[in-house]
Amino acid sequence: MLSAPLSLRNYLEKIDQVFGLQQLKTTEVTHQFTQEYYRETGKYYRWLHSPDGAMHFPLHTNPSRKAHREGLYRHPLSILSFIKKHSIKEVLELGCGQGFNSLFLAEHLPAVRFTAIDLTPANIERAQAKARAKNLVNLEFRQGDFNALPYPDAQFDFIFAIECLCHSQDHSQTLCEIYRLLASRGYLLVYDGYQEKPNEQLDLDWQLANEIFSVAFAVKQFAPWPEWHQIACRIGLEMLEEVDYSQAILPNLQRFQEGGMKVFQYPLLTKLLLQLRLFPTALIKHSIAGIVAPFLMEAGIIGYHKTVMRKVSESH
Ligand SMILES: C[S@@+](CC[C@H](N)C(=O)[O-])C[C@H]1O[C@@H](n2cnc3c(N)ncnc32)[C@H](O)[C@@H]1O
Repeated sequence: MLSAPLSLRNYLEKIDQVFGLQQLKTTEVTHQFTQEYYRETGKYYRWLHSPDGAMHFPLHTNPSRKAHREGLYRHPLSILSFIKKHSIKEVLELGCGQGFNSLFLAEHLPAVRFTAIDLTPANIERAQAKARAKNLVNLEFRQGDFNALPYPDAQFDFIFAIECLCHSQDHSQTLCEIYRLLASRGYLLVYDGYQEKPNEQLDLDWQLANEIFSVAFAVKQFAPWPEWHQIACRIGLEMLEEVDYSQAILPNLQRFQEGGMKVFQYPLLTKLLLQLRLFPTALIKHSIAGIVAPFLMEAGIIGYHKTVMRKVSESH
């Protein structure tokens, strides 16, 4: 049984004074909750994280400002080389957020057709406005749910998803839908966070930290890493590449934690400022994830992976 450090307990108590841990951990994360979360936090992502609209973690080893921006481009740059290497022509991005990745790719690869979908209408409206302003004719943004998309079977040679499949509430259903949409021998590339250690191995503070971490990111539960991988293989997706990038996102998580700890340093003052509406609730709730994430990541309870898979068979 893994025991949580006292410093984590100290912050859990502060969070409890502001939001009530019981209330946080019993929050029901539905599609509507997730949409609302992204509608409310979209402007903070642009303000504090990426004016270009990236909503994923930067991959880097050096937490300087410049490295932050470069780190955000590592995902679309690696996808750009993948598309070129495999001569891909028809691409689908799932959970595209405000369009950062597909806008970049469609601009750099005018001969490739891109379709990008997201659950949150506010994100799609923003992405569509940017695509219009850039006059991109090879990119279409549409509102949609990655569990059920209005495209024919085998439509795409390549599907990618950056930090959105963690929102799936039924990993089998989501991976089956991806399988259906992929052409024979088509590729799936995913960057995402997973739970690495089962709850049974964690003491109550770790479990609590894990639960409030998920809620603060509008995720019902991060997929258990080995199980997610096994489901994908069972459905007919063969693993081609797997990279553990947990250490590469840690510097950004630590920066996020510094901000979160400042916010919760004087919990009663924070609570008062929230009640007076002088602090934005969505942002303060989001900073809970900032506080607990490095604890969880450093203890190996959560992790961040890149996976590349390929559709191997038609029957499942
Ligand atoms: C962390 S953001 C990542 C956005 C984008 N991939 C990026 O890299 O900037 C996660 C996105 O997943 C979307 N999302 C959550 N559940 C979804 C679902 N069921 N179907 C499609 N998109 C979903 C959210 O609306 C949000 O925009």
